[in-house]
Amino acid sequence: MTLSVGLRDLVRKYLRYGLHEGICVTVDGFGRVNVAPMGVEVLDRGSNVDVIIRPYPETRTSMNLRQVPEFTLNFTHNPILFFNSLFHKQSLTLLPSHYVRPPRLGNGVDLVLECEVKAQYRDVKGRDLVIGSVNDAYECEGSKVAYSRGASAVIEALVYLTKLVALATSMSCEERMKYFRRISEVCSLPMRIGSKELRHVCSVVLKLAESLTCLDTQDKVVE
Ligand SMILES: Cc1cc2nc3c(=O)[nH]c(=O)nc-3n(C[C@H](O)[C@H](O)[C@H](O)COP(=O)(O)O)c2cc1C
Repeated sequence: MTLSVGLRDLVRKYLRYGLHEGICVTVDGFGRVNVAPMGVEVLDRGSNVDVIIRPYPETRTSMNLRQVPEFTLNFTHNPILFFNSLFHKQSLTLLPSHYVRPPRLGNGVDLVLECEVKAQYRDVKGRDLVIGSVNDAYECEGSKVAYSRGASAVIEALVYLTKLVALATSMSCEERMKYFRRISEVCSLPMRIGSKELRHVCSVVLKLAESLTCLDTQDKVVE
């Protein structure tokens, strides 16, 4: 689909740093909504803009896209929205989209893309590769939060935690410990300089990550 020059410029303005993190909303064949953070890559094709997302094959995102090949991508700086989209999905406000069936996030979002799947296939790493064409793009009220190193670190910790959750069963104890240590390191910044809210998220993340290691009770890491 050809996007207007204004909309192309909007996408280029927001998504010009390579890989961005967004929140992907999909629906299944019954219209049930799923919300999940996803890395997003932009393919600028001149008169149109495509996006690539790479959901793990067993995720609801991947399965929903095979049933209803449409999605919205919602971009924000707010780590609490990323956290809630993983652990408190019911707390999120959803609003109808303009053209696609999946809704968009209603609060704290800078930019929304409405997308249609052009192709979905398995890559060599066993991940789904979904190419979507952007049918609409618009700015929303915005995340209204200044850049914070602590907030970025929380998003990073969530990335490692979700990898650990997705891959724990196929990992050795040593690999799981590596992830846990990485998460502890990343969380040390928000634990030191972050707000109460960020520290709370990190303590939840650390607890969950620890529960996925092979540490026995005596060896558990004390904060
Ligand atoms: C910032 C961020 C980016 C993520 N990017 C991806 C991604 O590109 N692909 C993926 O499969 N999971 C990614 N995840 C993890 C998924 O959001 C998580 O596994 C989620 O539970 C997806 O599952 P679902 O579709 O079943 O809800 C990311 C998590 C975070 C916090």
